[in-house]
Amino acid sequence: MEKGYEVHGIIRRSSVDFRERIAHLEGRPGFHLHYADLGDSMSIVKVVGSVRPDEIYNLAAQSHVQVSFDAPEFTADVDAVGVIRVLEAVRACHLEQHCRIYQASTSELYGKVEAVPQNEETPFHPYSPYAVAKLYGYWIVKEYREAYGMYCCSGILFNHESERRGETFVTRKITLAAARIAQGHQEKLFLGNLSSRRDWGYARDYVECMWLMLQQEQPDDYVIATGVQHTVREFATLAFRYAGIELRWEGEGADEKGVCAAGPARLVGKVLVAVSPDFYRPTDVVNLLGDPSKARRCLGWNPSKTRFEELVRLMVESDMAKVAGEGAAAKIRTNLAEYLEKGIVK
Ligand code: GDD
Repeated sequence: MEKGYEVHGIIRRSSVDFRERIAHLEGRPGFHLHYADLGDSMSIVKVVGSVRPDEIYNLAAQSHVQVSFDAPEFTADVDAVGVIRVLEAVRACHLEQHCRIYQASTSELYGKVEAVPQNEETPFHPYSPYAVAKLYGYWIVKEYREAYGMYCCSGILFNHESERRGETFVTRKITLAAARIAQGHQEKLFLGNLSSRRDWGYARDYVECMWLMLQQEQPDDYVIATGVQHTVREFATLAFRYAGIELRWEGEGADEKGVCAAGPARLVGKVLVAVSPDFYRPTDVVNLLGDPSKARRCLGWNPSKTRFEELVRLMVESDMAKVAGEGAAAKIRTNLAEYLEKGIVK
Protein backbone atom coordinates (compact mmCIF):
# COMPACT_ATOMS: atom_id res chain seq x y z
CA MET A 1 0.00 0.00 0.00
CA GLU A 2 2.97 2.31 0.64
CA LYS A 3 3.85 1.82 -3.03
CA GLY A 4 0.44 3.16 -4.07
CA TYR A 5 -1.01 -0.21 -5.02
CA GLU A 6 -4.67 -1.08 -4.84
CA VAL A 7 -4.53 -4.19 -2.61
CA HIS A 8 -7.01 -7.04 -2.63
CA GLY A 9 -6.66 -9.74 0.01
CA ILE A 10 -8.53 -12.97 0.54
CA ILE A 11 -9.87 -14.05 3.92
CA ARG A 12 -11.61 -17.13 5.23
CA ARG A 13 -14.85 -17.16 7.13
CA SER A 14 -14.43 -18.02 10.80
CA SER A 15 -16.74 -17.67 13.78
CA VAL A 16 -14.03 -15.77 15.61
CA ASP A 17 -12.19 -12.72 14.33
CA PHE A 18 -8.57 -13.43 13.40
CA ARG A 19 -7.92 -10.16 11.58
CA GLU A 20 -5.93 -8.42 14.31
CA ARG A 21 -2.84 -8.16 12.13
CA ILE A 22 -4.59 -6.28 9.33
CA ALA A 23 -7.05 -4.33 11.49
CA HIS A 24 -5.04 -1.11 10.96
CA LEU A 25 -5.62 -1.38 7.18
CA GLU A 26 -9.33 -2.04 7.13
CA GLY A 27 -11.36 0.90 5.91
CA ARG A 28 -8.41 2.51 4.11
CA PRO A 29 -9.08 3.47 0.49
CA GLY A 30 -7.39 0.99 -1.85
CA PHE A 31 -7.65 -1.92 0.57
CA HIS A 32 -10.21 -4.62 -0.20
CA LEU A 33 -10.99 -8.04 1.25
CA HIS A 34 -12.75 -10.95 -0.43
CA TYR A 35 -13.92 -14.26 0.99
CA ALA A 36 -12.04 -17.08 -0.73
CA ASP A 37 -10.07 -20.15 0.19
CA LEU A 38 -7.09 -21.88 -1.41
CA GLY A 39 -8.99 -25.15 -0.96
CA ASP A 40 -11.84 -23.86 -3.16
CA SER A 41 -10.88 -23.35 -6.85
CA MET A 42 -14.09 -21.57 -7.80
CA SER A 43 -13.63 -18.93 -5.12
CA ILE A 44 -10.10 -18.20 -6.39
CA VAL A 45 -11.27 -18.00 -10.02
CA LYS A 46 -14.01 -15.57 -9.02
CA VAL A 47 -11.65 -13.22 -7.18
CA VAL A 48 -8.96 -13.34 -9.87
CA GLY A 49 -11.60 -12.82 -12.58
CA SER A 50 -13.20 -9.83 -10.89
CA VAL A 51 -10.04 -8.10 -9.65
CA ARG A 52 -7.87 -8.95 -12.71
CA PRO A 53 -4.67 -8.38 -10.71
CA ASP A 54 -1.31 -7.26 -12.12
CA GLU A 55 0.53 -9.13 -9.39
CA ILE A 56 -0.42 -11.98 -7.07
CA TYR A 57 1.49 -12.75 -3.88
CA ASN A 58 0.57 -16.24 -2.72
CA LEU A 59 1.49 -16.12 0.96
CA ALA A 60 -1.42 -18.32 2.05
CA ALA A 61 -0.52 -21.63 3.67
CA GLN A 62 -0.82 -23.93 6.62
CA SER A 63 2.58 -22.57 7.62
CA HIS A 64 3.30 -24.27 10.93
CA VAL A 65 5.83 -27.08 10.47
CA GLN A 66 4.93 -28.98 13.66
CA VAL A 67 1.19 -28.76 12.91
CA SER A 68 1.84 -30.31 9.48
CA PHE A 69 2.64 -33.61 11.22
CA ASP A 70 -0.86 -33.55 12.78
CA ALA A 71 -2.69 -32.29 9.68
CA PRO A 72 -0.64 -33.55 6.71
CA GLU A 73 -3.54 -33.88 4.27
CA PHE A 74 -4.89 -30.39 4.88
CA THR A 75 -1.34 -29.05 4.61
CA ALA A 76 -0.87 -30.78 1.24
CA ASP A 77 -4.22 -29.52 -0.04
CA VAL A 78 -3.49 -25.88 0.75
CA ASP A 79 0.29 -25.68 0.40
CA ALA A 80 0.69 -27.92 -2.67
CA VAL A 81 -2.59 -28.14 -4.60
CA GLY A 82 -3.50 -24.59 -3.52
CA VAL A 83 -0.63 -23.27 -5.66
CA ILE A 84 -1.98 -24.98 -8.74
CA ARG A 85 -5.41 -23.52 -8.00
CA VAL A 86 -3.91 -20.02 -8.14
CA LEU A 87 -1.94 -20.73 -11.33
CA GLU A 88 -4.95 -22.30 -13.02
CA ALA A 89 -7.22 -19.45 -11.93
CA VAL A 90 -4.87 -17.03 -13.69
CA ARG A 91 -4.97 -19.17 -16.84
CA ALA A 92 -8.75 -19.63 -16.67
CA CYS A 93 -9.13 -15.84 -16.57
CA HIS A 94 -6.73 -15.45 -19.56
CA LEU A 95 -4.30 -13.41 -17.50
CA GLU A 96 -1.27 -15.66 -17.93
CA GLN A 97 0.60 -13.19 -20.14
CA HIS A 98 -0.25 -10.26 -17.92
CA CYS A 99 -0.36 -11.25 -14.25
CA ARG A 100 2.89 -11.84 -12.36
CA ILE A 101 2.86 -14.36 -9.53
CA TYR A 102 5.01 -14.63 -6.43
CA GLN A 103 5.01 -17.99 -4.65
CA ALA A 104 6.07 -18.14 -1.00
CA SER A 105 8.58 -20.94 -1.10
CA THR A 106 10.71 -21.79 1.93
CA SER A 107 14.09 -22.70 3.34
CA GLU A 108 12.34 -25.75 4.83
CA LEU A 109 12.89 -27.30 1.37
CA TYR A 110 16.54 -27.82 2.35
CA GLY A 111 15.33 -29.72 5.43
CA LYS A 112 17.85 -32.36 6.37
CA VAL A 113 20.47 -30.12 4.85
CA GLU A 114 22.91 -31.43 2.29
CA ALA A 115 25.17 -28.34 2.35
CA VAL A 116 25.72 -25.25 4.52
CA PRO A 117 25.08 -22.45 3.63
CA GLN A 118 22.16 -23.07 1.27
CA ASN A 119 21.79 -21.26 -2.07
CA GLU A 120 19.66 -21.68 -5.23
CA GLU A 121 21.81 -24.66 -6.32
CA THR A 122 21.69 -26.62 -3.05
CA PRO A 123 19.73 -29.90 -3.35
CA PHE A 124 16.43 -30.05 -1.51
CA HIS A 125 15.73 -32.62 1.18
CA PRO A 126 12.31 -31.75 2.66
CA TYR A 127 11.92 -33.05 6.19
CA SER A 128 8.27 -32.52 7.19
CA PRO A 129 4.83 -32.86 5.55
CA TYR A 130 4.89 -29.05 5.28
CA ALA A 131 8.16 -29.04 3.37
CA VAL A 132 7.08 -31.87 1.06
CA ALA A 133 3.91 -29.93 0.18
CA LYS A 134 5.92 -26.76 -0.41
CA LEU A 135 8.26 -28.70 -2.70
CA TYR A 136 5.32 -29.36 -5.00
CA GLY A 137 4.50 -25.64 -5.00
CA TYR A 138 8.09 -24.80 -5.92
CA TRP A 139 8.19 -27.22 -8.86
CA ILE A 140 4.75 -26.42 -10.24
CA VAL A 141 5.68 -22.73 -10.39
CA LYS A 142 8.82 -23.63 -12.35
CA GLU A 143 6.74 -25.89 -14.60
CA TYR A 144 4.18 -23.18 -15.43
CA ARG A 145 7.00 -20.73 -16.14
CA GLU A 146 8.57 -23.15 -18.61
CA ALA A 147 5.39 -24.66 -20.09
CA TYR A 148 3.31 -21.50 -20.51
CA GLY A 149 5.89 -18.70 -20.33
CA MET A 150 4.19 -17.27 -17.24
CA TYR A 151 5.98 -14.72 -15.08
CA CYS A 152 5.97 -16.67 -11.83
CA CYS A 153 8.74 -16.86 -9.22
CA SER A 154 9.50 -18.62 -5.99
CA GLY A 155 11.15 -16.74 -3.16
CA ILE A 156 13.02 -19.30 -1.05
CA LEU A 157 12.64 -17.35 2.15
CA PHE A 158 14.47 -18.20 5.33
CA ASN A 159 12.65 -17.48 8.61
CA HIS A 160 11.30 -13.96 8.65
CA GLU A 161 10.00 -12.56 11.89
CA SER A 162 8.35 -9.39 13.17
CA GLU A 163 6.18 -7.92 15.88
CA ARG A 164 3.23 -9.51 14.05
CA ARG A 165 4.63 -13.05 14.01
CA GLY A 166 2.14 -15.71 15.19
CA GLU A 167 2.53 -16.54 18.87
CA THR A 168 3.33 -20.24 18.36
CA PHE A 169 6.44 -19.70 16.23
CA VAL A 170 9.54 -19.85 18.35
CA THR A 171 10.71 -16.21 18.13
CA ARG A 172 7.40 -14.63 19.07
CA LYS A 173 6.73 -17.30 21.67
CA ILE A 174 10.01 -16.27 23.30
CA THR A 175 9.59 -12.49 23.07
CA LEU A 176 6.05 -12.62 24.41
CA ALA A 177 7.06 -14.92 27.26
CA ALA A 178 10.09 -12.75 28.14
CA ALA A 179 7.79 -9.72 28.35
CA ARG A 180 5.18 -11.56 30.41
CA ILE A 181 7.75 -13.05 32.79
CA ALA A 182 9.45 -9.66 33.24
CA GLN A 183 6.10 -8.08 34.12
CA GLY A 184 4.95 -10.88 36.41
CA HIS A 185 2.24 -12.39 34.18
CA GLN A 186 3.91 -15.75 33.45
CA GLU A 187 6.20 -18.01 35.48
CA LYS A 188 8.03 -20.12 32.94
CA LEU A 189 8.59 -20.68 29.23
CA PHE A 190 8.68 -24.21 27.78
CA LEU A 191 10.57 -24.76 24.53
CA GLY A 192 11.67 -27.70 22.37
CA ASN A 193 15.06 -28.02 20.66
CA LEU A 194 17.19 -25.14 22.00
CA SER A 195 20.13 -25.99 19.74
CA SER A 196 18.21 -25.64 16.48
CA ARG A 197 19.90 -23.04 14.25
CA ARG A 198 18.09 -20.56 12.06
CA ASP A 199 18.84 -17.62 9.79
CA TRP A 200 16.33 -15.10 11.13
CA GLY A 201 15.54 -11.89 9.24
CA TYR A 202 12.99 -9.07 9.49
CA ALA A 203 9.73 -9.70 7.57
CA ARG A 204 9.48 -6.06 6.44
CA ASP A 205 12.81 -6.34 4.57
CA TYR A 206 11.81 -9.65 3.02
CA VAL A 207 8.49 -8.34 1.70
CA GLU A 208 10.40 -5.61 -0.14
CA CYS A 209 12.41 -8.35 -1.80
CA MET A 210 9.27 -10.27 -2.83
CA TRP A 211 8.16 -7.13 -4.63
CA LEU A 212 11.58 -6.69 -6.29
CA MET A 213 11.31 -10.24 -7.66
CA LEU A 214 8.18 -9.28 -9.59
CA GLN A 215 9.76 -6.11 -11.07
CA GLN A 216 12.52 -7.82 -13.10
CA GLU A 217 12.71 -8.39 -16.84
CA GLN A 218 12.76 -12.17 -16.42
CA PRO A 219 11.15 -14.32 -13.73
CA ASP A 220 13.51 -16.33 -11.54
CA ASP A 221 13.79 -17.96 -8.09
CA TYR A 222 15.83 -16.40 -5.29
CA VAL A 223 17.08 -17.31 -1.82
CA ILE A 224 16.23 -14.58 0.68
CA ALA A 225 18.20 -14.75 3.93
CA THR A 226 20.57 -12.68 6.06
CA GLY A 227 23.54 -15.08 5.87
CA VAL A 228 23.83 -15.03 9.69
CA GLN A 229 22.84 -17.91 11.94
CA HIS A 230 21.85 -18.20 15.63
CA THR A 231 20.47 -20.92 17.89
CA VAL A 232 17.09 -20.82 19.62
CA ARG A 233 19.07 -20.57 22.89
CA GLU A 234 20.87 -17.43 21.64
CA PHE A 235 17.57 -15.89 20.58
CA ALA A 236 16.12 -16.54 24.04
CA THR A 237 19.21 -15.18 25.84
CA LEU A 238 19.02 -11.92 23.91
CA ALA A 239 15.24 -11.55 24.17
CA PHE A 240 15.32 -11.98 27.96
CA ARG A 241 18.23 -9.51 28.16
CA TYR A 242 16.16 -6.86 26.35
CA ALA A 243 13.38 -7.59 28.85
CA GLY A 244 15.83 -6.91 31.72
CA ILE A 245 16.63 -10.52 32.62
CA GLU A 246 20.03 -12.22 32.32
CA LEU A 247 19.76 -15.98 31.77
CA ARG A 248 22.31 -18.61 32.77
CA TRP A 249 22.02 -21.99 30.98
CA GLU A 250 22.45 -25.16 33.03
CA GLY A 251 22.15 -28.85 32.13
CA GLU A 252 21.85 -30.53 28.75
CA GLY A 253 19.24 -31.88 26.33
CA ALA A 254 15.79 -32.32 27.87
CA ASP A 255 17.24 -31.26 31.27
CA GLU A 256 18.59 -27.93 30.09
CA LYS A 257 17.26 -24.89 31.96
CA GLY A 258 17.51 -21.12 31.69
CA VAL A 259 17.97 -19.72 35.19
CA CYS A 260 17.61 -16.04 36.07
CA ALA A 261 21.17 -14.90 36.91
CA ALA A 262 20.31 -11.21 37.20
CA GLY A 263 17.19 -9.09 36.92
CA PRO A 264 14.22 -8.30 39.15
CA ALA A 265 14.93 -9.64 42.70
CA ARG A 266 11.76 -11.80 42.70
CA LEU A 267 13.12 -13.77 39.70
CA VAL A 268 16.82 -14.22 40.56
CA GLY A 269 17.71 -17.92 40.95
CA LYS A 270 14.41 -19.12 39.44
CA VAL A 271 14.14 -21.42 36.41
CA LEU A 272 12.49 -19.30 33.73
CA VAL A 273 13.06 -21.49 30.66
CA ALA A 274 12.72 -25.29 30.55
CA VAL A 275 12.56 -27.93 27.83
CA SER A 276 9.37 -29.83 27.07
CA PRO A 277 9.31 -32.81 24.68
CA ASP A 278 5.86 -31.56 23.56
CA PHE A 279 7.72 -29.14 21.30
CA TYR A 280 10.02 -31.71 19.72
CA ARG A 281 9.18 -32.60 16.11
CA PRO A 282 9.27 -36.15 14.66
CA THR A 283 11.93 -34.83 12.26
CA ASP A 284 13.44 -31.42 12.93
CA VAL A 285 15.34 -29.13 10.59
CA VAL A 286 18.29 -27.92 12.64
CA ASN A 287 20.81 -26.13 10.48
CA LEU A 288 19.45 -23.43 8.18
CA LEU A 289 21.79 -20.75 6.91
CA GLY A 290 21.05 -18.95 3.66
CA ASP A 291 23.39 -17.48 1.07
CA PRO A 292 21.59 -14.40 -0.35
CA SER A 293 24.34 -13.51 -2.88
CA LYS A 294 22.06 -13.86 -5.91
CA ALA A 295 19.37 -11.56 -4.46
CA ARG A 296 22.05 -9.02 -3.54
CA ARG A 297 23.65 -9.20 -6.99
CA CYS A 298 20.56 -9.37 -9.23
CA LEU A 299 17.95 -7.48 -7.21
CA GLY A 300 20.20 -5.02 -5.36
CA TRP A 301 18.68 -6.22 -2.10
CA ASN A 302 20.48 -5.56 1.20
CA PRO A 303 20.38 -8.66 3.47
CA SER A 304 21.92 -6.78 6.41
CA LYS A 305 19.41 -3.94 6.64
CA THR A 306 17.92 -5.12 9.94
CA ARG A 307 20.43 -7.10 12.01
CA PHE A 308 19.60 -9.91 14.39
CA GLU A 309 20.05 -7.79 17.55
CA GLU A 310 17.77 -5.09 16.14
CA LEU A 311 15.12 -7.64 15.17
CA VAL A 312 15.05 -9.16 18.67
CA ARG A 313 14.95 -5.70 20.25
CA LEU A 314 12.02 -4.59 18.04
CA MET A 315 10.05 -7.71 18.92
CA VAL A 316 10.74 -7.51 22.66
CA GLU A 317 9.92 -3.78 22.83
CA SER A 318 6.64 -4.38 21.04
CA ASP A 319 5.69 -7.24 23.38
CA MET A 320 6.76 -5.31 26.50
CA ALA A 321 4.35 -2.53 25.46
CA LYS A 322 1.63 -5.01 24.54
CA VAL A 323 1.86 -6.86 27.85
CA ALA A 324 1.93 -3.58 29.80
CA GLY A 325 -1.23 -2.54 27.93
CA GLU A 326 -2.92 -5.86 28.68
CA GLY A 327 -1.90 -5.48 32.33
CA ALA A 328 -3.36 -1.97 32.48
CA ALA A 329 -6.59 -3.12 30.80
CA ALA A 330 -6.89 -6.05 33.21
CA LYS A 331 -6.36 -3.69 36.15
CA ILE A 332 -9.09 -1.35 34.88
CA ARG A 333 -11.45 -4.35 34.53
CA THR A 334 -10.64 -5.50 38.08
CA ASN A 335 -11.16 -2.01 39.47
CA LEU A 336 -14.43 -1.67 37.61
CA ALA A 337 -15.68 -5.01 38.97
CA GLU A 338 -14.77 -3.87 42.48
CA TYR A 339 -16.42 -0.46 42.04
CA LEU A 340 -19.57 -2.07 40.65
CA GLU A 341 -19.66 -4.46 43.60
CA LYS A 342 -19.21 -1.65 46.10
CA GLY A 343 -21.79 0.45 44.29
CA ILE A 344 -19.22 3.20 43.53
CA VAL A 345 -20.18 3.04 39.85
CA LYS A 346 -23.52 1.84 38.59
N1 GDD B 1 7.48 -23.33 17.18
C1 GDD B 1 8.39 -23.73 18.08
N2 GDD B 1 8.04 -23.77 19.40
N3 GDD B 1 9.64 -24.05 17.64
C2 GDD B 1 10.56 -24.41 18.58
C3 GDD B 1 10.26 -24.47 19.95
C4 GDD B 1 8.94 -24.14 20.38
O1 GDD B 1 8.61 -24.17 21.55
N4 GDD B 1 11.38 -24.83 20.61
C5 GDD B 1 12.34 -25.01 19.70
N5 GDD B 1 11.85 -24.76 18.47
C6 GDD B 1 12.61 -24.91 17.21
C7 GDD B 1 11.90 -25.77 16.16
O2 GDD B 1 12.11 -27.16 16.42
C8 GDD B 1 12.60 -25.29 14.90
O3 GDD B 1 13.80 -26.03 14.71
C9 GDD B 1 12.93 -23.82 15.20
O4 GDD B 1 12.75 -23.65 16.61
C10 GDD B 1 12.07 -22.81 14.46
O5 GDD B 1 10.70 -23.17 14.60
P1 GDD B 1 9.51 -22.19 14.13
O6 GDD B 1 9.68 -20.83 14.70
O7 GDD B 1 8.23 -22.91 14.42
O8 GDD B 1 9.73 -22.01 12.56
P2 GDD B 1 10.15 -23.05 11.41
O9 GDD B 1 11.59 -22.81 11.12
O10 GDD B 1 9.72 -24.42 11.72
O11 GDD B 1 9.25 -22.56 10.19
C11 GDD B 1 9.07 -21.16 9.88
O12 GDD B 1 10.00 -20.71 8.93
C12 GDD B 1 9.94 -21.32 7.64
C13 GDD B 1 10.99 -20.66 6.76
O13 GDD B 1 12.22 -21.30 6.95
C14 GDD B 1 7.63 -21.04 9.35
O14 GDD B 1 7.30 -19.67 9.21
C15 GDD B 1 7.49 -21.73 8.00
O15 GDD B 1 6.19 -21.49 7.48
C16 GDD B 1 8.55 -21.17 7.04
O16 GDD B 1 8.48 -21.83 5.82
